[in-house]
Amino acid sequence: MKLLFLACLSPKTGNYTTAERIRSHIESAGHTCELRDVADFLSPSDVAHLVSQNPPFQGALAIHLFKAGRLLLDIQLPFGVIFGGTDINEDVKDEQKRVVMEQVLLKARFAVAFTEKLKEEAEFVLVSPQSKIYVQPQGIQTEVAEKFCWTEFLMSSGVRTDCVDELCVFLLVCGLRRVKDPLYLAEVFSEWHSENHLNILIIIGPKVDPALTAKVEAVVKRATGVFLAQERSQRKLHAVMKRCFAVVNSSESEGMSAAILEVNICKAMDLRVPVLARNIPGNAAVVKHGVNGLLFSSPQEFVHQSQRLLSDHKLRERVVRNGKLYVEENHSVKQEKETYQRLVDTLHKAQFSA
Ligand SMILES: *[C@@H]1O[C@H](CO)[C@@H](O)[C@H](O)[C@H]1NC(C)=O
Ligand SMILES: *[C@@H]1O[C@H](CO)[C@@H](O)[C@H](O)[C@H]1NC(C)=O
Repeated sequence: MKLLFLACLSPKTGNYTTAERIRSHIESAGHTCELRDVADFLSPSDVAHLVSQNPPFQGALAIHLFKAGRLLLDIQLPFGVIFGGTDINEDVKDEQKRVVMEQVLLKARFAVAFTEKLKEEAEFVLVSPQSKIYVQPQGIQTEVAEKFCWTEFLMSSGVRTDCVDELCVFLLVCGLRRVKDPLYLAEVFSEWHSENHLNILIIIGPKVDPALTAKVEAVVKRATGVFLAQERSQRKLHAVMKRCFAVVNSSESEGMSAAILEVNICKAMDLRVPVLARNIPGNAAVVKHGVNGLLFSSPQEFVHQSQRLLSDHKLRERVVRNGKLYVEENHSVKQEKETYQRLVDTLHKAQFSA
């Protein structure tokens, strides 16, 4: 079957890798799936025009009920939708948008939510026919760049040292914007570094907010042991993560996308790197303290938990092992593939019964 797949593909939304992965699941079942950016279309009639060209499309899929799903309202083909980052957290608050999303949900053959919680929230705010929303967590597939030089990475991030191999690098992966609180640990970490020069903190992520980026740059210049690295491609980022002693998450809140499309903690777990995360609901839903990672509620506690991780090898082995199990059980790519193949089959059948 020939399927149109609409998503917001602008870089940095994290959507692109998700959309690509789902597209490949669908194509591996023998379908043709054309991925298109919502920015290419002005209105639902543009999409209706596209799907009628020859050979015609036979079904459609969209990530984001509002941003992408609304563009499917004029087509006569069976389609499915996947809830996107801002659908339930932001867009529903606007009554006009909410109504559109409800229309999309009503017309869709199925909808997919990445978490149980999101499904519950969606059913609470949108009128939805029973059992139309499926829960399928995102599959975690961490591809690591083959060509990657650790020393070069450290040098380009401003790390000057003669003992590269003994360094304990803590990596904070986050966009430079306020809700992510990138400087939460800077001061305390710097003090800790002055006692032990081998412990360093590297902050890496897209420079989303220019004012905050300038502030982070200024702080990093002063705080010894804390560095700011240039943003890298996903594969390179994974290569960096893999070489680190631990991956840190100090977000003070979920932010607007509610951790739906940003899953760095799970990627670290998948790469067998210990995770140290701030104790907020979003992180605590994934990280069980002392089991598959460590949680902290203050910068001081961060240092304390890091020290435990440095000195207790059994603890380190345990959290790494359980982290990997967590990802395998809860973010299986194989299961994700089966789900989407099954759902696309329902579109395939619907085509003939329409
Ligand atoms: C970790 O940090 C990222 C980026 O700051 C954030 O979006 C995400 O919600 C956090 N939690 C998890 C579980 O990845
Ligand atoms: C998968 O997630 C559930 C819910 O968070 C959790 O109870 C379970 O232990 C996880 N599986 C593993 C192997 O950690």
